[in-house]
Amino acid sequence: MEFPFDINQIFPERVSILDQSLVAGRRSAGRPDLQAHIATVIDELGRASAKAQQLTAPITSASKLQTQKHQLYLLKDGESSGGRGLIVGFLKVGYKKLFLLDRQGVHIEAEPLCVLDFYIAENLQRHGYGLELFDFMLQHKNFEPVMMAYDRPSPKFLSFLAKHYCLTQSVPQVNNFVVFEGFFLNRSAAQLRKVPPKKPDGEIKPYSLMEREAVRQEQRTRPWPFAPPHSPQRSVYSQCSQSLSMRSSPSRAPPQAVLPSSPGGSRNQNPQSPLIDRCRERRSSSLNRSQLGFH
Ligand code: ACO
Repeated sequence: MEFPFDINQIFPERVSILDQSLVAGRRSAGRPDLQAHIATVIDELGRASAKAQQLTAPITSASKLQTQKHQLYLLKDGESSGGRGLIVGFLKVGYKKLFLLDRQGVHIEAEPLCVLDFYIAENLQRHGYGLELFDFMLQHKNFEPVMMAYDRPSPKFLSFLAKHYCLTQSVPQVNNFVVFEGFFLNRSAAQLRKVPPKKPDGEIKPYSLMEREAVRQEQRTRPWPFAPPHSPQRSVYSQCSQSLSMRSSPSRAPPQAVLPSSPGGSRNQNPQSPLIDRCRERRSSSLNRSQLGFH
């Protein structure tokens, strides 16, 4: 994604971490001109991501980032565009208070790190940039992908998670978030609070769902002809099966059904170890490919 200004001047690092302050490195601090460029980049990326996910409005923008405690990892390619650099994509994460169902269907209150938005420029997808960005975030946060929740992951993202991190077995939820087998293991009681079965009146909604609904509400309250046509909500489960059926890589394992595991079946084990080992093998071979210049 190209911009009419020098990307390398604004974003000195290959991966920049942006938050509420909209500052990327020391150079942009106290420089309203550079911060305006940063806002332009974020807004443009947010629009492109929404378009790619067929959302009616962006869920990422500079103004939203300024008001929410989220972090945005932004990847650039500094050598392209005659040395001015171009933007490859971004990944937005943040903590959300969620009401989730564990394997036994018990309501659990948790505040996991969530992937909220993720986008790689269309012409650069399937070149390993998404993996580079995601791995950077995992290292920076010192996190395992299984410990995270995923806000309405797209079929491409589900395929990405299955391929690179062997995340295929999701635990069914009643909201738009997806968590995978192993999410509820190895967490302290303080991190996961059982919600009493008798809840107060009213449906409990995760914040993100409310956020996305607010965007829809904003759209609905606009007068005709600005209001967009109503689009049906995407189903996470149909997306998941869709994603498994749309796999293209011949080296992939066959799709696995989402089946409940027996209670405590994998207790006292590192839930990820065998899977991660398999993924690492795959990933190191693809790394070798990219080192050989297959990018
Ligand atoms: N169709 C199916 N799977 C895909 C596709 C695609 N068009 N593109 C990427 N993938 C998955 C596949 O598993 C692929 O492996 P394969 O080529 O062997 O099939 C793997 O990702 C490739 O890995 P990377 O090259 O590291 O991923 P990429 O740089 O393409 O980034 C991403 C992945 C971010 C999902 C990107 O494809 C994208 O921006 N998609 C459009 C926007 C989107 O769907 N974002 C996720 C929204 S959901 C959320 O943010 C919570």
